[in-house]
Amino acid sequence: MKKSNSKILVIIILCTVFACKEQANKQDKEPKISNTQNQETEEVLYRPNYHFTPDVGWMNDPNGMFYYNGYYHLYYQHYPDGNKWGPMHWGHATSNDMIKWKEQPIALFPDEKGYIFSGSAVVDIENTSGFGTDGKVPIIAIFTYHNKEREKAKRLDVESQAIAYSLDEGLTWTKYSNNPVIKNPGIKDFRDPKVSWNAEYKKWVMVLAAHDKVMFYSSKDLKSWELLSDFGDDLSKKVGTHGGVWECPDLFPLPIEGSNETKWVLYVSVNPGGPNGGSATQYFIGDFDGTTFTMDKEFEENLNNNHNFWIDFGKDNYAGVTFSNISSKTNGKFYMGWMSNWEYANDVPTETWRSAMTLAREIKMIKDNNSYRLSFKPVEEINSYKGKKFKKEDIKIKEPIILLQSANASLSHSIIDFEISNFENQGFTFKLSNDKENNLLFGYNENSKVFFIDRSKSGKTDFSEKFSKKISVAKRISNNKKLTGKIILDKTSIEIFFDGGSTVMTEIFFPETPFEKLSLESNKGLTLETLIANELNIN
Ligand code: FRU
Repeated sequence: MKKSNSKILVIIILCTVFACKEQANKQDKEPKISNTQNQETEEVLYRPNYHFTPDVGWMNDPNGMFYYNGYYHLYYQHYPDGNKWGPMHWGHATSNDMIKWKEQPIALFPDEKGYIFSGSAVVDIENTSGFGTDGKVPIIAIFTYHNKEREKAKRLDVESQAIAYSLDEGLTWTKYSNNPVIKNPGIKDFRDPKVSWNAEYKKWVMVLAAHDKVMFYSSKDLKSWELLSDFGDDLSKKVGTHGGVWECPDLFPLPIEGSNETKWVLYVSVNPGGPNGGSATQYFIGDFDGTTFTMDKEFEENLNNNHNFWIDFGKDNYAGVTFSNISSKTNGKFYMGWMSNWEYANDVPTETWRSAMTLAREIKMIKDNNSYRLSFKPVEEINSYKGKKFKKEDIKIKEPIILLQSANASLSHSIIDFEISNFENQGFTFKLSNDKENNLLFGYNENSKVFFIDRSKSGKTDFSEKFSKKISVAKRISNNKKLTGKIILDKTSIEIFFDGGSTVMTEIFFPETPFEKLSLESNKGLTLETLIANELNIN
């Protein structure tokens, strides 16, 4: 048998074994998700075409994303037996292009030490951990145990860090017998380890959320860890936004576009405290010397003057972190986030499953007028799914004008690029609508100079007060005369990349019937230079 064939056979056998194990597991427990009459409608109307959702059950943060041997792996906070947050497992999905995901058997189950909270995974190529046997490269997951009993007893040492290893490329896992590898030092929220290999200092570096700061640790073998430093909560000054608890950090170097210089990026999710309410992810730019993260001076000044360093200004992108073990052709980093918000995630109107991930995005570092900032774009791979194309050019907009209708372009799974000029003093509003008078509005407000998304009339909104009470806004950063935008639509979500991705807004919505029309209006008149819409054919 050819090597590749035998490998396929092993995978099939493993999948069958796991499918059975999974089945047995599911039968053991009474599923808490009832079959509802709405299930079919829900699938047709709300299940995204290509954004990852679990088949059944609750999902939050992406965890342990890595690339190895042609496959991207996504693990995620998962409660398979209920559609609200519950005892956390790590669900698992794989993809060969970061777009089309296939759900795999559950990777990590909760045990007597606790629920399996968020964390990361690394490919231990050099077998520094010693878990690799017979020349197999071990994949190591580093996660948080959250102990419910201790939580109930109101103890501080609820959370600790633990590891597990896989010798079959991330499919099955063995928890380390000496867990935890980092005990709780008396900090209540002490979680979400993100580990990466630091090539310069030849050691593993972990960034960990610790209530309202992050802590850095290092290790040679992923088993014993040494505390290096912390960031974010010096007694003299708190750094960044502290509206709520700090969670899901990430630390990585990124080359600056068009130069040989590299800076370090620190992601910190915060809940609540987001720019438009609830949960969101802020970032810091600076240097990491193997021990300490120091913010860049200019960046720090900008941050203190006006904190607008968010990876996304929409309400629905949280807890995103980067994939490990990939280097992109264009020097960027890849990441995904959870497309929801703790303000209402448990109440969104789907019963079978809850939540989707964002599209995978590439992160770039831009240096503009001596200051650093990040810019984002959907991964290139999305372009290979482009189908039917519609193009409009040089349209003067005064009256509202219909640009696209579902009769000729399926808006529910499409990618739309546009370029608009003369808009700064005029503003514009795109409107997605259906014949139930549901609409989703987004555009630019010339008076307050902000981009906005208004989902107040987008269909089902009454499941939470916080879902649509306020219009989400984002100050424009670029001062280019022309505005470019990329819109990604997938039934119940919109991801907008304004100004080449320097401002991103992601939001979810639940129309009563699919949106069928896209129109554009501007009170005072502007020019739509181009609009190119492509259906995305991803099944
Ligand atoms: C972020 C978070 C993490 C935690 C996980 C629990 O959304 O609160 O800090 O590990 O979710 O599911």
